[in-house]
Amino acid sequence: MSQQAVPPTQPARIGIVTVSDRASRGQYEDKGGPAIIEYLAEVLDSPYETLYRLVPDEQPQIERVLVELADEQGCCLIITTGGTGPAARDVTPEATEAVCQKMMPGFGELMRQVSLQKVPTAILSRQTAGIRGRSLIVNLPGQPRAIRECLDAVFPAIPYCIDLLEGPYLVTRPERLAAYRPKK
Ligand code: MTE
Repeated sequence: MSQQAVPPTQPARIGIVTVSDRASRGQYEDKGGPAIIEYLAEVLDSPYETLYRLVPDEQPQIERVLVELADEQGCCLIITTGGTGPAARDVTPEATEAVCQKMMPGFGELMRQVSLQKVPTAILSRQTAGIRGRSLIVNLPGQPRAIRECLDAVFPAIPYCIDLLEGPYLVTRPERLAAYRPKK
């Protein structure tokens, strides 16, 4: 469980993608993106920078921004919020799957399981995760309060997942969230 403080040479890059027709049209303020940024500031202790994007619920645009953040910006982690439900325009999981080489279904399974303890409609989220190159992409529902609930469940496994992708060594604040790395 111990985390060695091996400082990465470059700050880790983390992409944050809000997927919302209304927020992208300026009809309401995006609360999800800032909630993810706030969450990262609370749990991460190693240097990182965030790259924020806001896109409408259009699959080609979501795919483009995921590819840009993964391939051009070199984000080790990309967190999306919104567009995971059953409505016709909810296509974030489809965009994620289209750009990933590998799916990581355990993320969605665990997030739905913990969310179900809070709200019965958690089963309506098709949130998933996957790997594109050396980036881990994780979908969260659009509800701002879902962000903390979901990330608290899966974040302990994220630093080790990024180690396996040969990304930067993420260090969390143990008093807030202990990252789990199996002993070698
Ligand atoms: N998960 C958590 N933890 N908290 C929530 O409030 N809302 C649910 C579900 N998952 C919710 C949640 C609802 S009502 C829907 S419709 C789906 O997420 C999909 O939301 P999205 O389309 O905004 O991604």
